[in-house]
Amino acid sequence: MSAGGQRGSIVIAIDGTSASGKSTNARLVAKALDYAYVDTGAMYRTLAWYCLKNGVDVHDAKAVAAAVRRWKTRLDCVDGHVRLLVDGYHPAREIRTAETSAAVPHVAAIPRVRTWMVKTQRDCLRFGNLVMEGRDIGTHVFPETDFKFYLDASLDERTRRRQAEGVHEDLAKRDRRDSERRAAPLMIPLGAMVVNNSGQTPEQTSNLIIAEVRRRLPA
Ligand code: DC
Repeated sequence: MSAGGQRGSIVIAIDGTSASGKSTNARLVAKALDYAYVDTGAMYRTLAWYCLKNGVDVHDAKAVAAAVRRWKTRLDCVDGHVRLLVDGYHPAREIRTAETSAAVPHVAAIPRVRTWMVKTQRDCLRFGNLVMEGRDIGTHVFPETDFKFYLDASLDERTRRRQAEGVHEDLAKRDRRDSERRAAPLMIPLGAMVVNNSGQTPEQTSNLIIAEVRRRLPA
């Protein structure tokens, strides 16, 4: 059985549509198993924020690729959460604004950006066993892991969840962008367990994932 990481680390890959509960469940699973949690969407958001802050046009692939070559970043892990710092700063709140959300699909569609992100996300193995959430973890970042999950929920329910967080967003449009882009589009990874969590509580979904991981872990 392949655990997915190098040096014997286990990687649990959680992919899925926007607002399908990836973050909530990935955090719960990481906490229960004492693995480090990695939010790869936050890394793409950090780049989008960096571009906006530095006047880099997110529609200009060459300019964004140049930015990703020159920005000064570092990974750290605080309270079990892996963070991407830029110039020593972690832009936790800034990456959640509507402006950043609108810019992020554009930077995420650029192949050179994805290459940089995949490498950086693989570097997270230095923090040990991981629960990593995103859109391409089971397909591109750690395709060899045996622990792949794909979360989804009805569009109505996902829209309600985002609205409850105070965010009004056209999720269908963002999913379409993520699924139709040429570079690493959102898709169900081969061998992933698909979990439609409409009507489920986060505890129900995360317990299901934890039980499945424990069942598959080598004794
Ligand atoms: O999960 P999120 O909403 O924070 O993701 C932000 C954007 O980044 C979203 O449009 C999809 C993109 N993304 C991606 O392309 N690949 C990932 N591994 C994670 C996020």
